[in-house]
Amino acid sequence: MEQEDLAMDILELEFMRRFIRLCSDGWAQGWHERNGGNLSYRLKSEEAEVCKPFFDASRDWVPLNIQLNALAGEHFLVTGSGKYFRNVELCPASNIGIVEISSSGDAYRIVWGLRNGAAPTSELPTHLMSHAVRKAATEGANRVIYHAHPSAVIAMTYILPLTAGDFSRALWRSATECVMVFPRGVGVVPWMMPGGAEIAKATGELMRTYSAAVWAQHGLFCSGANFDECFGLMHTIEKAADIYLRVLSAGQPILQTVTDDKLRAIAREFGAELNEELL
Ligand code: 13P
Ligand code: ZN
Repeated sequence: MEQEDLAMDILELEFMRRFIRLCSDGWAQGWHERNGGNLSYRLKSEEAEVCKPFFDASRDWVPLNIQLNALAGEHFLVTGSGKYFRNVELCPASNIGIVEISSSGDAYRIVWGLRNGAAPTSELPTHLMSHAVRKAATEGANRVIYHAHPSAVIAMTYILPLTAGDFSRALWRSATECVMVFPRGVGVVPWMMPGGAEIAKATGELMRTYSAAVWAQHGLFCSGANFDECFGLMHTIEKAADIYLRVLSAGQPILQTVTDDKLRAIAREFGAELNEELL
């Protein structure tokens, strides 16, 4: 059957619908000006199997310039480079696509979507490196990596030292829920050129410990087992960052905060493993 004839059906699949919904939700939050941000999802083997009739294996392999043995043979649904999140819902096959990683883990090819010569996101190296690291760190549970440009988190990178401790403490103290949602804290990558192997390696290194990494003066990378968890992490961090900045801009002395002992108590109550090293 022709891909064209099948195009309606692949869009009905659960992971596809959830991916598209996240793109629309992220746009609605104001995190995706122009083509800002990107998203990737590691397909389950049964999902890749169901999609096989829709795949076109005739496109060329493209070198990745990084070696990813842990992802050999995997399939990823990804947003396209230069594509706008707000347009994904309107025309998925032009704005997103499925890529297959080669059996040697050093190249990819597009097997569905990204029509008319479109390419996967320029941040594909960081997405794949983060997938490899989070897959290992979560014993295969992690499937979603999400990059957005949320304003409050970016603004924080102008006024705080760029360390995991400074950011994690500021965010944890801004809202009680935070320590439950990211008890290990968040990592911070200093300003680097986007889109390359260097920033991919720096982010991947942090993803061994943290489920999220802030990119100074740029945005935030989040991970999760599913779309809800990953979007929820982005949302929680950005909301905490917004509260942090509102408190600073209120021009009043801070009279009380969530102390270290309160953070420990929340973690105990909800069975979260607080990263004590950051206190
Ligand atoms: P892409 O359009 O290539 O995904 O790039 C957007 C972006 O946010 C780069 O960091
Ligand atoms: Zn970006």
